[in-house]
Amino acid sequence: MATHHVLLLGGNGKVSRLLTPMLLQRSWDVTSIIYNPDQVADLQKLGEKPFSANNYGRLDVLVRSLEDVKSESQAKSLIDEVKPDYVVWSAGAGGKGAPERTEAIDRDAAIYFIRASVATPSITKFVMISFIGCRYKKAPWVDEAHWQQYLKSTRNHYQRYYEAKLPADEVLYVEGKKRKDFAGICLRPGRLTMEPAGNVSLGKFPRAEGTSSRPAVAYLAALLLDAPGVKNCWLDMLDGDEDPEGAVKRCVEQGVDCAEGEHFY
Ligand SMILES: NC(=O)c1ccc[n+]([C@@H]2O[C@H](COP(=O)([O-])OP(=O)(O)OC[C@H]3O[C@@H](n4cnc5c(N)ncnc54)[C@H](OP(=O)(O)O)[C@@H]3O)[C@@H](O)[C@H]2O)c1
Repeated sequence: MATHHVLLLGGNGKVSRLLTPMLLQRSWDVTSIIYNPDQVADLQKLGEKPFSANNYGRLDVLVRSLEDVKSESQAKSLIDEVKPDYVVWSAGAGGKGAPERTEAIDRDAAIYFIRASVATPSITKFVMISFIGCRYKKAPWVDEAHWQQYLKSTRNHYQRYYEAKLPADEVLYVEGKKRKDFAGICLRPGRLTMEPAGNVSLGKFPRAEGTSSRPAVAYLAALLLDAPGVKNCWLDMLDGDEDPEGAVKRCVEQGVDCAEGEHFY
């Protein structure tokens, strides 16, 4: 079984904490980036091998603020220090602090890490956790009235967040396409909940609004990192009725890409 080393940016986040043991169980190593030193001891507990596990990867926790990453070369230094082959971005200001903080983390730092990852030949996958409505135009398979309702009831309330996330999603798509041996995978859930992982809707479906279980998001991220043949793509995701393994297999085999309809597709 191939082993991997995942750089997990925003490692103390709720999705990241669920994802970490899923990666370690695959005997993959994880380097988790957090910015609050008080969280180190608690986070390191995720690295303890469960009694039932035969093999377990190694967890390293590094304290660095993503808000202080002000250039691609700073992001590249961290990548060169950690030497991952996969990168996951599940960090975000989460509406905390000034809007400039969201721009510094969700847009600028994310873009620096995307560009630095694409510029690192040993990195072959980058999973970004974004959100389903993060797009310039309505997806062609979504009903116009439903989209307008979604804009009014949800997205327009998060304008600064949306304006910060979308450029990062675009850069991941465009830069990721430049390398044939690189997959920039943008996983796009709806309103996140802590409900247990269940079945999902993944890829193109007619809704833009709904809930997404965080455990299911984490599980899909792990499956996508583990899926051979996955290509650069955007994948929308909500709670639904398809089993996650089947949904990932279908999307990979069919080359599903929800960036369709965007100007850079
Ligand atoms: N909330 C939603 O409904 C929703 C919907 C769709 C997509 N998303 C996206 O999904 C992602 C994952 O969701 P989640 O629930 O796991 O979010 P979360 O728990 O808020 O995790 C985000 C993580 O980013 C970390 N972070 C913030 N500033 C940082 C900095 N300067 N340096 C390093 N790390 C920093 C936070 O640290 P602390 O733990 O110290 O605060 C937190 O651990 C979010 O970032 C968001 O962009 C959210």
